[in-house]
Amino acid sequence: MSKKSVVVVGSTGRMGQEILNLLKIDSDLVLSGEVDEKKNISQISDADIVIDFSAPAVSVEVSQWCRKKIVPYVCGTTGFSEKQFHKITEAAKDIPIFYSSNMSVGVAVLRRALKALAAVSEYDFQIVEAHHSQKKDSPSGTAKTLQEELTKVIGRTPPPVQSIRGGGVFGVHEILVMGQEETLEFKHTALNRAVFARGALRAAKFLIGQKPGLYSMDDVLDY
Ligand SMILES: NC(=O)c1ccc[n+]([C@@H]2O[C@H](COP(=O)([O-])OP(=O)(O)OC[C@H]3O[C@@H](n4cnc5c(N)ncnc54)[C@H](OP(=O)(O)O)[C@@H]3O)[C@@H](O)[C@H]2O)c1
Repeated sequence: MSKKSVVVVGSTGRMGQEILNLLKIDSDLVLSGEVDEKKNISQISDADIVIDFSAPAVSVEVSQWCRKKIVPYVCGTTGFSEKQFHKITEAAKDIPIFYSSNMSVGVAVLRRALKALAAVSEYDFQIVEAHHSQKKDSPSGTAKTLQEELTKVIGRTPPPVQSIRGGGVFGVHEILVMGQEETLEFKHTALNRAVFARGALRAAKFLIGQKPGLYSMDDVLDY
């Protein structure tokens, strides 16, 4: 079977470079085009799939291109406004879209584990996240997702996420659970950026051939 062609958006960025490195040795996917600040998605003619780690305004435009061309779309960009994210989810009516604010399998497992906290919903909760100093959005997309998940599980909104920025930290997310007589700590630490890139390629392979709709890492875990 021939390899599926991949267009990488944000290819010159930190995540884009990780994706390009993994594509060099992938047996199912091959790089067919790159989009960065110098090359717009409108200059790309076609692809079997698009993988995008760029910036919110760019990703909205890319989602519309994918919708028009009927190309499956994997998006890892974070920091969308509600309106921007709505435009992306609208496109999922016509094409399969995979969105995850964190493409690591570990964070998908952590999200599932949070469901167990319903049993101690009266405890105090605090999410803390740390990232490298160049990260543009705060709190991180992952922290926002975890906060939404926790709100559903405990039936109220926990205090705002605490964000720390510094050095080269790839990403740390911690959920502190504090009772009067005991504490729990749920923690995920990304040891490199490749963990997100590997998750994005896994998502891409899952997405090719799926029906239109919005998919997440949860769907990939069950696949
Ligand atoms: N979902 C996840 O698991 C996950 C993990 C890590 C990061 N992220 C998110 O992924 C995104 C990228 O992160 P990063 O650390 O790789 O950032 P980065 O190093 O700043 O890379 C951003 C990329 O977007 C490109 N870009 C910026 N403006 C553009 C435009 N107008 N048109 C086309 N391309 C444009 C940049 O191109 P130039 O280099 O030419 O400027 C660069 O290639 C962020 O939103 C980050 O939060 C998600």
